[in-house]
Amino acid sequence: MMGKVIVAPSILSADRNNLSFEVAKMKKAGAAFIHLDVMDGKFVPNTTFGPELVARVSSEFSDIVKDTHLMIVDPLKQIPEFAKAGSDLITVHLESFDREEEVFEAIDSIHRHGLKAGLSIKPATAPEAIDAFLPKLDLVLVMSVEPGKGGQAFMENSLDKIAYFKKKRDFCGYSYLIEVDGGINAETAKRTVEAGVDVLVAGSYLYGHEDYEERVRGLLEL
Ligand code: DX5
Ligand code: ZN
Repeated sequence: MMGKVIVAPSILSADRNNLSFEVAKMKKAGAAFIHLDVMDGKFVPNTTFGPELVARVSSEFSDIVKDTHLMIVDPLKQIPEFAKAGSDLITVHLESFDREEEVFEAIDSIHRHGLKAGLSIKPATAPEAIDAFLPKLDLVLVMSVEPGKGGQAFMENSLDKIAYFKKKRDFCGYSYLIEVDGGINAETAKRTVEAGVDVLVAGSYLYGHEDYEERVRGLLEL
């Protein structure tokens, strides 16, 4: 079905000193999600922001999905903070847990806070690694770059993973959204949507460009 793609601009590439304007303009352009990249400098080399920035966005924007992507160690401990801050959806990384039970605990904790739960895998992680969690997930996030910074090149192996999760969902009747994150532009977005993606995260393709409205529209029409 054409035109059911969700666009999730990543504020990693936005002017965070001008946050209200940067979120408002993407919402006006048609983005239904705002993608909040939380990095702690341990799980990934960079550090970005904590729950306080999520709280700033959610205090001002109730009608855009706060899509919080936790690239942090020990996310279980911080889920309550990011839930209280106003996230609508919290995505954690499989690779930030030592044991399968902790992943289930994190998903349950996100759900207990009344939020949607997402699970993400890095480029080197096989899609089968999260099979056990799929029945409980609201979103699967396929990283098409190594997490940690914006502006990297799209990694082709994400296409097969997207197709894998689409097939799994259709065959098993699961209900998660498939989100892709990293190196998304008009060309790579098209291929990910053809493979089965529902949500497109884009940072450097959208922020910092005069024609961002056309760019958002172009992605929405895929
Ligand atoms: C990378 C982040 C991505 C990143 C996307 O660790 O998770 O969301 O901001 O940036 P672009 O779209 O510039 O690759
Ligand atoms: Zn992200």
